[in-house]
Parts: sequence; C-alpha cells; structure tokens
Amino acid sequence: MALRQIRTEGDPVLAKKCRPVDKMTLRLKILVEDMFETMYDAYGVGLAAPQVGVLRRIAVIDVDGEHPYCFVNPEIIEMSGEQTGDEGCLSVPGKTGTVTRPERVKVRAYDINMKPFELEAEGLLARACCHEFDHLDGVLYVSKVEGPLRDVQPYEEIEEEEETEE
Ligand code: NI
Repeated sequence: MALRQIRTEGDPVLAKKCRPVDKMTLRLKILVEDMFETMYDAYGVGLAAPQVGVLRRIAVIDVDGEHPYCFVNPEIIEMSGEQTGDEGCLSVPGKTGTVTRPERVKVRAYDINMKPFELEAEGLLARACCHEFDHLDGVLYVSKVEGPLRDVQPYEEIEEEEETEE
C-alpha cells in the first residue's frame, strides 16, 4: 500500500466527471487500498478517487474508524429528511463550512469485488455519501456552502504539534 497525493481545490481533476468502473482490476484494487491508507493518514472520513487524481467512480468512507466502505459506481436511489451541519474536505485543507444534506440516503453500489449492494445510511454516514459522491461528478462542497467558509487548523499542523509534544 502507498500514500497518494491528495489534490487540492484549483486542480482541474477535481472539477471533472468520473467514468464508471466496468471491470475491477488489480490496479483499481490497489487504488482502493491506497485510498483507505491515504484517508486514514489524513484523518479523513471519506475520499473519492478524483481526489488522488483518478477519474473513476470510486469512493471510500469510514466515519467511525470501524466501518470501512468502498463504493464503486455508487448511486443515491432514495433520500429523505434534512440535516444542516459543518463539512470539510481533504481537498480544501484548513476550511469548514455549513452544508444542508439529506438526513437519510439509500445507496446502490458495487463493492471491491463488483458485487452489488445497497446501504441505508443516516446522519454523518449519509452526509459523507453525499459529499464523496458529489466528487465523482466534479462537485466540491464549497459550491453548496451556506454562509462563509471558516478557517480550521489543517491536519498537517495538528500532526506537527503532536510530534513536537512527544
Ligand atoms: Ni471532499
């Protein structure tokens, strides 16, 4: 496994629509492993393939550190309710903003072995699905933010502080 470079806002790859996966390959399986590693390393709860420069419809999510999901060609087939809360994105480091999303979504996708599955998600997991799947259409959360983007401490700085403290 390897860490991949996370593309940041302004990189044209983040504004493009991704192509569906028609066949799982070893190369794409390695991509998924690398995406998980890169997401955990950056303290993220989700990462989409275009964020590491690959224009394929693949996203990984793990909102509690215990339930890793890989979504291939995901689609939101039902949504209900509403939640308004703060979001951040590894491609927009040091920022957060308020976004309204559905409270519940039903997702249809394929897993890493191209086996179809459905997932009913609510709360943070539903929010993460909406955010990550938007990336696959070239949409960043900053285009949906209500009010201003606010500054937060980027994870690199937090890490540096932790290293200094040791
Ligand atoms: Ni993001």
